[in-house]
Amino acid sequence: MVDKQQPEVNIGLVGHVDHGKTTLVQALSGSWTDQHSEEMKRGISIRLGYADATFRHCPDVDEPECYTVEEECPDGSRSEPLRTVSFVDAPGHETLMATMLSGASLMDGAVLVISANEPVPQPQTEEHLMALDIIGIDNIVIAQNKVDLVDSEQARENYDEIQAFVEGTVAEGAPVVPISAGQEVNIDLLMNAIEDEIPTPDRDPDADARLHVARSFDINKPGTTAANLTGGVLGGSLIQGELAVDDDIEIRPGREVEKGGQTEYVPIQTTIRSLQAGGQDADTVTPGGLLGVGTGLDPSLTKGDALAGRIAGPPGSLPPTWEAFTMDVDLLERVVGTDAGEVEEISTGEPLMMTVGTATTVGAVTSAREGECEVNLKRPVAAEPGATIAINRRIGARWRLIGLGTLQG
Ligand code: GTP
Repeated sequence: MVDKQQPEVNIGLVGHVDHGKTTLVQALSGSWTDQHSEEMKRGISIRLGYADATFRHCPDVDEPECYTVEEECPDGSRSEPLRTVSFVDAPGHETLMATMLSGASLMDGAVLVISANEPVPQPQTEEHLMALDIIGIDNIVIAQNKVDLVDSEQARENYDEIQAFVEGTVAEGAPVVPISAGQEVNIDLLMNAIEDEIPTPDRDPDADARLHVARSFDINKPGTTAANLTGGVLGGSLIQGELAVDDDIEIRPGREVEKGGQTEYVPIQTTIRSLQAGGQDADTVTPGGLLGVGTGLDPSLTKGDALAGRIAGPPGSLPPTWEAFTMDVDLLERVVGTDAGEVEEISTGEPLMMTVGTATTVGAVTSAREGECEVNLKRPVAAEPGATIAINRRIGARWRLIGLGTLQG
């Protein structure tokens, strides 16, 4: 039986498609047995994949060999748990950039996976690093993966390319650890670097709870009678505070209602009926990992991610809802991950896609000045003044990250 603890830190796994993020998660999850209920698994891990891993160490063994995910040490002694981390597996596919950006708001640090056998950077390597930069995630470890496919000279050249690529970015100075996720080589070295570079953040135990809802669903099987229905479930991460069973919560901006031909958003209040953390039932939960929050809500309200992107917390404590806002704008010099060239100024009338926390919304620019613009949102968001906004512009067939916004109060 593996000791299970609630994860205490969220680490993003980012990088270009096929560079080995999923394989690395498997190598790091070790013999951990997944205890999420089938419904939870189906509901949550598909789009924003989370996988928990308990990092352990062998007290009588030197660094880095002391780091392991196995319960038994090479000398036959039992390893001791250090901490449980939750990996948020950001999809590398280019059309899923919005998912990556909303996941990034939940990350306390990130592992950037880069293949040793391809030129650096590949488009999403660059785009994901820029997203980390914009969201302000600066605890980064670089995993130079697939070193089993290259000789030492190629590995060195690739290492130099990585160093040149990260110069001047948030990842400058980050450790670059050569690994083979597939062959499980140097996984202990990578764990050592993660322990050093991505500490568990200090949490304020008195802060009001803030649950960022990444997914929401109805876990009832079709045909369940009304008397046996389980209330709607929210999936997401706490970024601060604590939640307990029987707590009352408010969810903002809430749900969409039609009123006289107009759409309005009404905050929702409910009670927490059950909690799951690290795949187990819990009475109280703290930040770290993916949480499942069972509520008293009608499951039709939470079905199919209907409440994704919302914020939940104690009634009356939540940030305001914005249907339009003004943001300070800091544009990138050029469009990353493409050869689309320089980023042009934002113009009045143009549509933008913005990620605020886990919420993604589209809006039309109603006024653009140098360094700031006003946007009318199609779907409102709840956010604190000063919140970071990832700004995307439609270029060709898709949305591209073009800059950083800061919500004005
Ligand atoms: P997406 O989730 O689609 O973005 O891909 P990913 O980054 O999760 O990549 P994945 O782990 O699926 O790996 C892609 C391919 O690379 C698979 O065929 C893996 O078996 C292979 N692979 C991953 N790590 C290694 C490695 O260290 N060495 C070798 N030789 N192959 C690897």
